[in-house]
Amino acid sequence: MAQTDFLPQADDARLRSRVGPARLPTGPETTVVIDGAPFQAWEGEPLIDAVNRAQIKLAQVCYHPQLGPLQTCDTCAVEIDGVVGRACGTRVAPGMTVRTQTLAARAAQRDAYDRIVGNHDLYCTVCDNNNGNCVVHNTLGLLGIDHQTRPFQPKGYGKDESNPFYRYDPDQCILCGRCVEACQNVQVNETLSIDWESGQPRVLWDGGAPIGESSCVSCGHCITVCPCNALMEKSMIGEAGLFTGIPLPVWNASIDLVKGTEGAAGLKPIMNVSEIESAGREGYIRKTKTVCTYCGVGCAFEVWTKDRHILKVEPGQGPANGISTCVKGKFGWDYVNSDERLTTPLIREGGRFREASWDEALDLIARRFTEIRGQHGPDALAFIASSKATNEEAFLVQKFARQVIGTNNVDNCSRYCQSPATQGLMRTVGYGGDSGTIHDIENAGLVITVGSNTAESHPVLATRVKRAHKLAGQKLVVVDIREHEMASRADVFLRPRPGTDFVWLSAISKYILDHGLEAREFLQGRVSGLDEFRRSIEGYTLEYAAEETGLAREDLEKLAHTIVEASGTCILWAMGVTQQCGGSDTSTAISNLLLVTGNYGRTGTGAYPLRGHNNVQGASDMGAMPDQTAGYRKVTDPLNVQTHEREWGVTLRPERGLDNTQMIDAAVAGRLKSLWLTGEEMGLTDADANHLVRGYEALEFFVVQDLYFTYTARFADVVLPASPALEKEGTFTSTERRIQRLYRAMEPLRGTRPDWQVYTAVAKRLGHDWGYTHPSEIMDEVARLAPIFAGVNYGRLEGFKSLVWPVDEGGTDTPLLYTERFNFPDGRARLFPAEYQPRQHAPNAEFDLHLNSGRMLEHFHEGNMTFKVAGIAEKVPDSFVELSPELAAERRVTSGQYVRLVSESGAVRLRALITGRVSGNEVYVPMNSARSENAVNHLTGQNRDPVTHTPAYKDTRVRLEVLPESGPNPLPKTNPRYGHPTPQGGVEVERKWQRPDYVFPGGELALLGDSLNRRVDGLGTDD
Ligand code: SF4
Ligand code: SF4
Ligand code: SF4
Ligand code: FES
Repeated sequence: MAQTDFLPQADDARLRSRVGPARLPTGPETTVVIDGAPFQAWEGEPLIDAVNRAQIKLAQVCYHPQLGPLQTCDTCAVEIDGVVGRACGTRVAPGMTVRTQTLAARAAQRDAYDRIVGNHDLYCTVCDNNNGNCVVHNTLGLLGIDHQTRPFQPKGYGKDESNPFYRYDPDQCILCGRCVEACQNVQVNETLSIDWESGQPRVLWDGGAPIGESSCVSCGHCITVCPCNALMEKSMIGEAGLFTGIPLPVWNASIDLVKGTEGAAGLKPIMNVSEIESAGREGYIRKTKTVCTYCGVGCAFEVWTKDRHILKVEPGQGPANGISTCVKGKFGWDYVNSDERLTTPLIREGGRFREASWDEALDLIARRFTEIRGQHGPDALAFIASSKATNEEAFLVQKFARQVIGTNNVDNCSRYCQSPATQGLMRTVGYGGDSGTIHDIENAGLVITVGSNTAESHPVLATRVKRAHKLAGQKLVVVDIREHEMASRADVFLRPRPGTDFVWLSAISKYILDHGLEAREFLQGRVSGLDEFRRSIEGYTLEYAAEETGLAREDLEKLAHTIVEASGTCILWAMGVTQQCGGSDTSTAISNLLLVTGNYGRTGTGAYPLRGHNNVQGASDMGAMPDQTAGYRKVTDPLNVQTHEREWGVTLRPERGLDNTQMIDAAVAGRLKSLWLTGEEMGLTDADANHLVRGYEALEFFVVQDLYFTYTARFADVVLPASPALEKEGTFTSTERRIQRLYRAMEPLRGTRPDWQVYTAVAKRLGHDWGYTHPSEIMDEVARLAPIFAGVNYGRLEGFKSLVWPVDEGGTDTPLLYTERFNFPDGRARLFPAEYQPRQHAPNAEFDLHLNSGRMLEHFHEGNMTFKVAGIAEKVPDSFVELSPELAAERRVTSGQYVRLVSESGAVRLRALITGRVSGNEVYVPMNSARSENAVNHLTGQNRDPVTHTPAYKDTRVRLEVLPESGPNPLPKTNPRYGHPTPQGGVEVERKWQRPDYVFPGGELALLGDSLNRRVDGLGTDD
């Protein structure tokens, strides 16, 4: 290989595609000589990166490219211009000469490693971490060490097993600090530290609490980066190795035997045996790339399985997440093996369900669809695609509706959250998706979140904001009615009255225009509609905004200047904006403000409507919408009609079909006779659950396809058992517009089928033999029909590769939109004069409290999957209602007390939780609920965004009745929200170096090495 073959290209695309939060070379190019050969490098980058690009094997136990140099292990010692120092902690300088294998360097490397194994009991043959990727094990082989000179000494601390998902074994901990850096500066939960001054240092949670009682959110970063078995997933223990599941006394005896042999034979024979054992695991451990099935961040990772047992989730290469996950992606998979999985179709007969064969169920569906269409026409049937299912499956739902049945009555659950954001962006910039990627958000000078509980709803995306805020000086402004984690971290936290975001956004736009602070050149060159827009916001003075929103005029003025002065602004928003009566107009106002200030088309700028479900972006992209086919092409567009005629042999109907909420209205009114619903607990997630029940009961024929017998399934005529993502292939599209492949980690559970096969089977019964044998063929069809997916195919998405749409035929994707033109025929953005839609259900005398609802970190959506994960249910066993301390005092309610919330639509009974996260007369109920009768949507009502019909869930008023009974606090004391984090700069290795017993390894070379290292440390370790 030529020396330059592995050099990265210094362009923006490379910066964006770099995995995870790795430091990037920023300095000028230079040359370093490593082991006698010249290599290109970048001034100021960690020397170890240049060594690694040169593919020179060098020990580096504590170095992880996504964490940066920690300098805790000293194993990367090399001779630099004649003196020994750490390759990770040394920054490249022009003309550097580096030798990795001199006697002095080797002595230091081996001495450093010897210290490590003095802290770590080497029992690889019976270790569950002996999977070929244990850094401690592999380094021993790399350095060719045969004998340990510092015998392992137990540290005197017991294992900590108090977290449901993982355990810490201090005796195996080599004190590398990777976990600390990951927790402090990647996840930024700031739970972990090392007590370097202690006689026997160890990793501490919250400064010394049991893990299970600490602030640890079980995101798994620390376990993922741990280079050995000190931190391990409990699901691995006793399961991964050939000999690791043996009973404890035998296991202990095996360790003694292994250790005893070392004295006589040295380490090599033991390592050889352990490597044979490790290789044997390849026969039964399967490592499959998949994409998370929870939120829209799009975390990708390998899932390790042994038959159906999930050993662990191993992130690292995902383009959006790198080493990152949250508790759901890392540990939330037990639902796949839940006893509650449906394994046979069910048919309702005489008011009861009976088991049926697949053929019988599918025949019945085909027959009833034919009858209903014959009797009432195609528009008497409707179809809802799942935002948890794959792109290919969403595509087939709308193909089935349009081609097989002949109706546009098709939709997906973005109707419940994301449609208003899409509308706002379609009006102004032309694409209904995030303008850039998570890396572009990281690059912003200012991030504003509006109505988004980002740390809980989009946890990994939030880590990047928290990291940029902590380390890179990014400013964070949070606008929300509830004080969640991001609010408490923000530089500015603004708490407007519910539903008034449109007003302050428009007032800031007006202030900026009135004071000549707008991005004039950008507006002139790239944006239309300024005059009309200016007129439309005439009334939105800061004084009016202050009066309407309750925010201080000065705060709004300051925010206007902060935006104008920032090097780039990204606005992130979610359901706090979209689930209001004016969700579309407020989303438009966000985009208008970004246009006025020139915040589009560059990294560090743009609009980011954070997509909720793993594939809610994809479900719409694939055309599961009543008026558009795949790629957002109108059913009325003649070219689109022509393409579909050619591909499908039918003419698209030009009339807009029914959306989700209209379907239920039509069912209640008797116009809709049949509904096929895939993978949605719509009965609990749509607003006004009682209205839904009336709709379901009015249907003549209702098909539900799901993993479990859900609340919604109770109303079905046929229930079909579905397969989750781990049991099938396909693609998901994340909030970044990033399309990623998932592979089958296990066979579909006996009796279940992937959705794409089910639609294909019913279509065939209705005379349309689609003939798909693999989801890749469906994606090829999407590419033929939708220009924005023209270059998408499974080959280009292989493994961890991804594509961010639009993708041209040649396969070039578009991580950052609008760099040159906006998506309108003239290439210009459009300022859109939107209208304020004030809330309709402000509290009144009868219903005196405002009801807010939303997600929780631990659970997802209604909770059907996450309540089946024992560890998650342990941390958050049920729903509750948050009351502010002042309201609780006024009503004499304490945490654990049962209360009834009553709205105009219904009532629920919940336990109270008193917390400062809510204030005044606002109450908050999580969306997830262990019991369907307590779901928050029994309270929400019928008012909707007039443009998209998205329910205004957040425009609900309730009254509170205190009940006599009381229970335990609904949030157990083991919940991380009670923890006490210990923020610090990182692993703080300087404190280790200050220990009186610390000297740089390598005997007589220590002085030289130490003096060099003190010199390079002065340069700092961060870019
Ligand atoms: S929050 Fe917990 S699981 Fe996540 S990195 Fe910190 S200690 Fe580890
Ligand atoms: S627990 Fe932390 S400090 Fe200990 S070996 Fe693992 S990553 Fe390193
Ligand atoms: S739930 Fe979201 S943030 Fe968490 S692992 Fe899955 S995709 Fe990532
Ligand atoms: S890799 Fe550990 S000190 Fe450099």
